Amino acid sequence: MTSLLEGRIAIVTGAGRGIGRAHALELARHGAAVVVNDYGVSLAGEGTGETPADAVVAEIAAAGGRAVVNTADVADFEQAAAMVEQAISTYGGLDILVNNAGFVRDRMLVNTSEEEWDAVIRVHLKGHFAPLRHAGAYWRAEAKEGRVRAARVINTSSGAGLQGSVGQATYSAAKAGIAGLTLVAAQELGRYGVTVNAIAPVARTRMTEGAFDTSAMALPEDNSPIVAWLASVEAGDVTGRVVEIDGSTITVETGWAHGPAHDLGRRWEAAEVGPALRALFDAAPDPEPVYGA
Ligand SMILES: NC(=O)c1ccc[n+]([C@@H]2O[C@H](COP(=O)([O-])OP(=O)(O)OC[C@H]3O[C@@H](n4cnc5c(N)ncnc54)[C@H](O)[C@@H]3O)[C@@H](O)[C@H]2O)c1
Repeated sequence: MTSLLEGRIAIVTGAGRGIGRAHALELARHGAAVVVNDYGVSLAGEGTGETPADAVVAEIAAAGGRAVVNTADVADFEQAAAMVEQAISTYGGLDILVNNAGFVRDRMLVNTSEEEWDAVIRVHLKGHFAPLRHAGAYWRAEAKEGRVRAARVINTSSGAGLQGSVGQATYSAAKAGIAGLTLVAAQELGRYGVTVNAIAPVARTRMTEGAFDTSAMALPEDNSPIVAWLASVEAGDVTGRVVEIDGSTITVETGWAHGPAHDLGRRWEAAEVGPALRALFDAAPDPEPVYGA
């Protein structure tokens, strides 16, 4: 145990397996009390009747840490509220929210069903929004009572959302949305002492094992020290950032930025647009390749 997160209270969503499990173990190792959330669904998000969070809580307890199970569906607004309430009633507050839960239903865009689109958008986007909304309201109420907490939110985006990924249109749209949500939440919650950042992790888990050659891929626990640091009091000056983690390499994602511009001084004629836009594209950095293109 180290003292980086001593006395702090965390929720990690989707922490029964994979990357979330590694985050929960790492936060606990650094002294945080952890609400280990997992809904126990299959890779495609279907019910399994499993409660994988139980084993993670047992593992944390066996190592001398503090943790409790939560089985909320994080994209259910009421269940997400109850999860935040569980942290407060069990441990006396909340300092760290790691939004990680999610699943995939990869398909080429033209083969994607309405149900697949809705399910993937829901689990990632609403599954980030709902816990963040309730935790944020708690932190605002605390700040208004003069109890500003050094609160930290770490969201989970993906290279698929930042650079794009062929065969993952829905997932990419959701993960790009999480990057946008992170930027806005960082600005809105900063006044209450809350930082909001996102990671784009890489790990060999059941999510990647089916889709890619994972033999040389990073491990879930390679991602978690970065989350632990972002969750610390020390990281209070870091907000609105997206950090990609690939094994031993950490990369700041610089995202969309205003590039070359041309102000014509009057409304454009359609016939003028092509040459002007092509000149701007020539002057701009080339876009990064989409994964799988
Ligand atoms: N594995 C990678 O390389 C990679 C890359 C980029 C992003 N990600 C993201 O990292 C996160 C974790 O992925 P992973 O690879 O560990 O996957 P995983 O399938 O191993 O773990 C995800 C966990 O989330 C849980 N979960 C799913 N829906 C839930 C819900 N509604 N409520 C609560 N729990 C729910 C599942 O039961 C599962 O235990 C995901 O958001 C994923 O999109 C993973």
